[in-house]
Amino acid sequence: MVSRVIPVETFDLVIFGGTGDLARRKILPGLFRRFCSGQMPKEARIIGAARSEMDDAGFRELVRDAIHEFDSKRPDDCPELNGFLECLAYVAVDAKGDGGWNELSALMREGTVRAFYLSVAPSLFGDIAERLHTRGLALRDSRIVVEKPFGRDLASARALNETLALHFHEDQIYRIDHYLGKETVQNLMAVRFGNMLFEPLWNSQYIDHIQITVAETVGVGGRGAYYDKSGAMRDMVQNHLMQLLCLIAMEPPSRFEPDSVRDEKLKVIRALEPVDYHHIVRGQYDKTDTQPGYREHAENPRSHTESYIAMKCHISNWRWAGTPFYMRTGKRLRARASEIAIVFKDTPHSIFDEDAGRHRNTLVIHLQPKEGMELGVTIKEPGPGGMRLIDVPLDMTFQEALGPDVEDVPDAYERLIMDVIRGNQTLFMRGDEVEAAWAWTDPIIEGWEARKEVPKLYDSGSSGPEDALMLMHRDGRKWREIK
Ligand code: BG6
Repeated sequence: MVSRVIPVETFDLVIFGGTGDLARRKILPGLFRRFCSGQMPKEARIIGAARSEMDDAGFRELVRDAIHEFDSKRPDDCPELNGFLECLAYVAVDAKGDGGWNELSALMREGTVRAFYLSVAPSLFGDIAERLHTRGLALRDSRIVVEKPFGRDLASARALNETLALHFHEDQIYRIDHYLGKETVQNLMAVRFGNMLFEPLWNSQYIDHIQITVAETVGVGGRGAYYDKSGAMRDMVQNHLMQLLCLIAMEPPSRFEPDSVRDEKLKVIRALEPVDYHHIVRGQYDKTDTQPGYREHAENPRSHTESYIAMKCHISNWRWAGTPFYMRTGKRLRARASEIAIVFKDTPHSIFDEDAGRHRNTLVIHLQPKEGMELGVTIKEPGPGGMRLIDVPLDMTFQEALGPDVEDVPDAYERLIMDVIRGNQTLFMRGDEVEAAWAWTDPIIEGWEARKEVPKLYDSGSSGPEDALMLMHRDGRKWREIK
């Protein structure tokens, strides 16, 4: 595979929360990888901005350590590292006050792309956006990047959108959902719209149901305080799973460009039917002899927050009427496995004996950890004994098909940051999209709260609560095994 790295233009990127966890784990190591691959110009400048007092040298040391810890592929002393560190500067900035803004302003260069990455608590978005605007740091073509959570319900998301809109135009706002930056998630669009093979069958006439699974083995760990106010619904379903659902269900956009793609995704979200509470299972991982349960992490012995969700959804439009979408996500499950399974209907009539059994085609798109595609096809079992049918996978892991270079594909964050610099919003959520997703999610959460619903406990290392299996069994269907 020949990788084609197209350098971006020179930029000044200010990372608010530049010393925080996300910056250290993802943003800075990601930028370093882009620097090593030659995509990030040597003249680019990355300015860390945070509360703590620190000089440039201190920030460079912090970044050196972060790269050492989170970018294990490259040796510590690689020659590129010093070049990268030279692009870094640091300013102590008071997001709610006056401190540091003049110094920051003095560092910004004329005629260079400016991007401001807000890797901070959403409660600071408004203060920072306002100061960027009123102090003249943000120009008409500057970009502002905001992390999730983008609100915790429709009202707060709308308020955030309104606050940002006071100081920035929609074409300057980049709302990150890092799932959209994943290689295989983008591949969903390539598979659907780059092949003639699938699209004619991609509807309720041929598809029995769709399963979307995002299973994690990690628990909430040190994020208990945040997670307890969020839960799987707000943390995963409202954004990541909804985005996957949109890419699977949307109509072909006329072009692969920001608003064409986002218009189609928005139509899917708006066509989602309200979910009957019988069609949702909430779970919470229990403690084991060796592992703490969710409630220990949440520091609340009576927390009713869910770490697992399974649900059945319907999309009311011509393409999907009658085809359910089952989605599930959870922490502390048996394996880390994210996949989308498109389960096709039975053939309309079987010409074979009953002994041949019932067989169905399934297209599975593996998102992580092992990226690939698998198409289950039915064939005759080889050998004597009559016409016995078996299902075999046409199996392709991308690494086998494309070679070892595939391991070097950019991580979601690095791709998305480069898109910010390029000014390409295709893989970012638009304000109306986020609001529509909350409008669908809010009544579900409100229903739980009104009924004081308690999540079902499930064992760590299992595939979730029993009731989630029943959700499918009741419909005569079965979840794919998490493995
Ligand atoms: C984050 C959630 O957005 O996505 C986390 O807040 C979750 O709770 C993570 O663990 C999953 O991302 P990935 O890329 O590891 O699948």
